[in-house]
Amino acid sequence: MSYSEKIHLVADISLIHTLAKWRYPGAWNGYGMYGDPSLYLDLARLLEHGRFDGAFFADVAGTPLFNGSPNDTVEWGVAWPRHDPLPTAIAMAGVTKHLGFVTTMSMTYHHPFNVSRLYSSIDHVTGGRIAYNAVVSGFPQEAQNFGYDTTPDHEWRYSRAEEFLEVVDKLFKSVDADAMLWDHETGRVADPSKIRRIDHEGEFFKVMGPLPCAPCPQGRPVQIQAGASASGIKLAGRWADFQFAATGSLKGDIALRQKLDDAAIAAGRQPRDLGVLWAKGFDVVSGPEEAEHNRQKMIAAVPEQMGIVFLSQWWGLDGYRLDPARTVHDTIAEVKELGVGPNWSYIDNAVANTEPTTTIGEYVKNWVAPPGGWVGTPEQIADMIEEEHHALGANGGFMIASKTSVPGGLSRFVHEVVPILQKRGLYKTEYEGKTMRENLCVY
Ligand SMILES: Cc1cc2nc3c(=O)[nH]c(=O)nc-3n(C[C@H](O)[C@H](O)[C@H](O)COP(=O)(O)O)c2cc1C
Repeated sequence: MSYSEKIHLVADISLIHTLAKWRYPGAWNGYGMYGDPSLYLDLARLLEHGRFDGAFFADVAGTPLFNGSPNDTVEWGVAWPRHDPLPTAIAMAGVTKHLGFVTTMSMTYHHPFNVSRLYSSIDHVTGGRIAYNAVVSGFPQEAQNFGYDTTPDHEWRYSRAEEFLEVVDKLFKSVDADAMLWDHETGRVADPSKIRRIDHEGEFFKVMGPLPCAPCPQGRPVQIQAGASASGIKLAGRWADFQFAATGSLKGDIALRQKLDDAAIAAGRQPRDLGVLWAKGFDVVSGPEEAEHNRQKMIAAVPEQMGIVFLSQWWGLDGYRLDPARTVHDTIAEVKELGVGPNWSYIDNAVANTEPTTTIGEYVKNWVAPPGGWVGTPEQIADMIEEEHHALGANGGFMIASKTSVPGGLSRFVHEVVPILQKRGLYKTEYEGKTMRENLCVY
């Protein structure tokens, strides 16, 4: 890892086909619908033109229930359908040379051997352009697809995750970078002194190894983590190259950055070994009128039931029926009393940022089209990016999502904001490295 204060950008393109985003005016114009990769291929070209480090695909492998049924979820396309993102990422790699890809896979429901082998193989076919977003999975309906009645205990999932990443680490280290011979004369394929068993035996996994893969271009895929609880931060401190983070306020972000710095130091690393990509929504506009117009279009595109079902899933409420007329505070008090298995860090954040009189219906409207964030002219957005980047220690960058239609919103960012950042010397004009790690892990 080398040092630079330049801004890194990754684009979140995970949910552009759900939560009504597909029906925003201008979205998906001229492309086949989800499943047809043509829009994603053009997004890959666009992001590479904008010198982005990567495209991010979140993933949850479950269909959320609402009031015990998938009906509302499928009817309103709430984070549904969700294909495995890896094939799309690989297709995008085929039309680009430098852009990286961040895909997500659960550490709770998969096995570290499978994940290591898969990501090593993808690193090969993408020429070293894959990152692994390792999540512990808080959504109950994902648990129910993998043999559990509901999401397993939070600390149990993090204990498993610690050992999971330890096994991944051992597997990637089980094959040295110079292990391959492919010697035509002798017929020897690899040097056995450079490949070894791992013989891991822990509480959760028993893995002999070695990884049955030739050493991959990045040595190991870029490691990303997104959990924000104390256990998530500890995990990031030890294993992550990058943390995905979002607290909703600059003050919160600064406090989280401090905790991540402490966690890196506690794990024997330096704060600069752990970059952060702060998740931000943006809307490039000509002025406040266009911004408000866009916001109203977004609110109008999301039927109330669609928003409610999505919020219920986001909070991990396991089929609990959110009532739009009740206040957020009363609802959460009841959820706590019932002991439903929710995502507490999101819920606590919502309670902290909500007036006692705000109803779930009101909250959802703001939530699907939150007013703040990077909304402004290209110059204003560049100013916000520059200011926040420095306030947060210039140690990574941002994971940005278009608040409006894709590809239009992203295209405006690439063509109108990126050149300003480049002119100010804050952002690269060319990719310097060959692999994603060489481009991204410089902070
Ligand atoms: C930017 C960002 C992206 C995330 N992407 C995913 C994802 O793709 N899949 C997933 O299951 N969780 C995802 N998460 C959730 C986190 O992995 C984590 O489960 C959540 O923040 C709760 O963490 P905690 O239990 O440590 O508080 C994401 C979180 C953030 C902030």
